[in-house]
Amino acid sequence: MRPVPVWVGTSWKMNKGPAAAIETARALAAFTPPAGVQPFVIPPFTSLRDVCAILHDTPVLTGAQNTHWEDAGAWTGEISPAMVAECGAELVEIGHSERRAHFGETDWTVNLKVHAVLRHGMRPLVCIGDSAQEHDFGVTREVLARQIMIALHGVSPRKMAQVLVAYEPVWAIGVNGRAAEAGFVAEIHAHLRAVLVRIAGEEAGGNVPLLYGGSVTRDNARAYTRLDNIDGVFVGRAAWNVTDFVQLIRSVAP
Ligand code: 13P
Repeated sequence: MRPVPVWVGTSWKMNKGPAAAIETARALAAFTPPAGVQPFVIPPFTSLRDVCAILHDTPVLTGAQNTHWEDAGAWTGEISPAMVAECGAELVEIGHSERRAHFGETDWTVNLKVHAVLRHGMRPLVCIGDSAQEHDFGVTREVLARQIMIALHGVSPRKMAQVLVAYEPVWAIGVNGRAAEAGFVAEIHAHLRAVLVRIAGEEAGGNVPLLYGGSVTRDNARAYTRLDNIDGVFVGRAAWNVTDFVQLIRSVAP
């Protein structure tokens, strides 16, 4: 049995200024998602507070795309977890492959950020993924086990109930990506589940939602979520248009 509900969320990445973000959030606030689905949106920092306020009393959760691990200090250009929490965020995405590739995010900083997010009562959405090369060399499982074990190091079984994990193969993300086969994702998620159970125990490790991301669309989303080991999808491009996002959410209703 899957841990209910089916998660379906989108990061707007570096898209939508405040005006577009507010317009999208208002459209989402007017929509009632089907039972059994948990939608979430992750706007840029510049709209986080507005989007949180608009979606506050709706079923749609709001998250941030990143955070620093310290609460305050001389860290020019950074946003602290205290600030993110004060804006009203419920989730914080950590370790997306674009941040690992372009902004020096490492497994160790991901671990610091996971603890910071939990300390502030928010839910970390930890992104992990294998590169095309790692996939071709057949070390996907080893790479993911390493990423998840370092990311979640020191997280107690009680706090583990707040954690979400997204498997996002680097080779599947973006305009040059190709969506991973649903059966392959289900196998990888079974492996991730075993790793989580090993590090957190049957109960805590067994209940962490495992999402898939990478070229998910409203046409292929259900192929993933109908499989037992896939608890949701994390979407980029195909969910930036609110009508597409709403259709995608409807398509994965259990
Ligand atoms: P795409 O859906 O655009 O491939 O991006 C996925 C992603 O990176 C979600 O975090």
